Amino acid sequence: MDQHTFQFTYEMYPSIDALAEADANLLRLAIQNTKNAYAPYSHFQVGAMALMANGKMVSGTNQENASYPIGICAERVLLSAASSLYPEVAIESIAISYHNAKGKSDRPITPCGICRQSLVEYEARFKHPIRLILAGEEGRVMVIPKADRLLPFGFSAEDMK
Ligand code: THU
Repeated sequence: MDQHTFQFTYEMYPSIDALAEADANLLRLAIQNTKNAYAPYSHFQVGAMALMANGKMVSGTNQENASYPIGICAERVLLSAASSLYPEVAIESIAISYHNAKGKSDRPITPCGICRQSLVEYEARFKHPIRLILAGEEGRVMVIPKADRLLPFGFSAEDMK
């Protein structure tokens, strides 16, 4: 029997002000974008903003439904929009924030499992890492250098060869 360890390195910043200007701008836009979420059931409004490799920005917000499972997370709304608008262009970075009408928004949230799988597919398709900039409306900011770090041992097209 061999024992193995999985680990990855990420950055933690004390606040948005400690980020490089481009990252701080993207995060500010993601925070603003939480207002565009349609989340009348959870009252948890998620805003995402991507910087594409061509310099364009693409946004996403969570879109809920009275039939709860139909709801879509902000991250996958963003990926669908990016893929439709710029099907040939890689994503450089995505900033993700949230407004929690029932509580605080002072720490990063990380994408759910389904969104992690979708993010990893996008990275594989363009052979390009997607940086994730994660934060609440205030407080510390987590920067993950590549989305697949959040999905160790994920299933991919490689497994079907
Ligand atoms: N949600 C997202 O949009 N992204 C996440 O990373 C976590 C959760 C949404 C789904 C649902 O509309 C609400 O937040 C509460 O789960």
